[in-house]
Amino acid sequence: MKRKILAGNWKMNLDHLSGAALAKEICAGVDAARSACEVVLIPPFTTLPAVAGAVRGSAVKTGAQDLYCEDEGAYTGEIAGGMLRALGCAYVLVGHSERRHTIGESNALVTRKLRAALRNGLIPILCVGELLAERESRKAVDIVASQVRESCEGLEGEEFSRVVVAYEPVWAIGTGRTATPEDASDMHGVIRIIAKELFGTAAAEHLPILYGGSAKPETAPALLAEPEIDGLLVGGASLKASSFLGMMPR
Ligand code: 13P
Repeated sequence: MKRKILAGNWKMNLDHLSGAALAKEICAGVDAARSACEVVLIPPFTTLPAVAGAVRGSAVKTGAQDLYCEDEGAYTGEIAGGMLRALGCAYVLVGHSERRHTIGESNALVTRKLRAALRNGLIPILCVGELLAERESRKAVDIVASQVRESCEGLEGEEFSRVVVAYEPVWAIGTGRTATPEDASDMHGVIRIIAKELFGTAAAEHLPILYGGSAKPETAPALLAEPEIDGLLVGGASLKASSFLGMMPR
């Protein structure tokens, strides 16, 4: 049995004060539950140091929402992987759909960020997912497959063994419309097939694939019951300890 992952992407919410308070509440809940699942908090950059302090000594891990593809230099406004590691970050999101579609990140940039994460000892959570129009025109599988293929192109097997993928259909993010467990599971199967094609059977089986998109305490159990779904990447419902903890697999 793979260890499930419950990750909370706080997006552009919670400053260092309210973020540290929420992190402490979540740590207390996670540590009391003694769940086998890996819990990850992903706050905004400026909230990260306070959250890193709040989770110290607990089983909860931290992650960042993005990183730059270079390790240092004249890149105003960017944050390097090494800076995140120095804060004790274990994970980093790469290619979140809000960065792909609102900020215009290309697959090519996502690939470079994925490599930067791996080079700096961070576990990248590579986000992929189709738009509503792409699903309606039956292009979802092609889009997601090409996002995975292009992002992972040229990685060594050892590097890929450290990658986590999150399938987040864009039409489900922040809309209240969760994908059905069957739809999510089918797409996770597609992602695993591409992983097998690129890196072999063992790598594909080992790959953790999370689902994200309006996941909430009511929908989490059925999603997590799917063998193809290795965890959840949660937005809105991760901003309150009660709803986030309510999604933790027991
Ligand atoms: P919501 O859970 O708010 O739909 O956000 C999902 C998401 O984008 C997590 O990265």
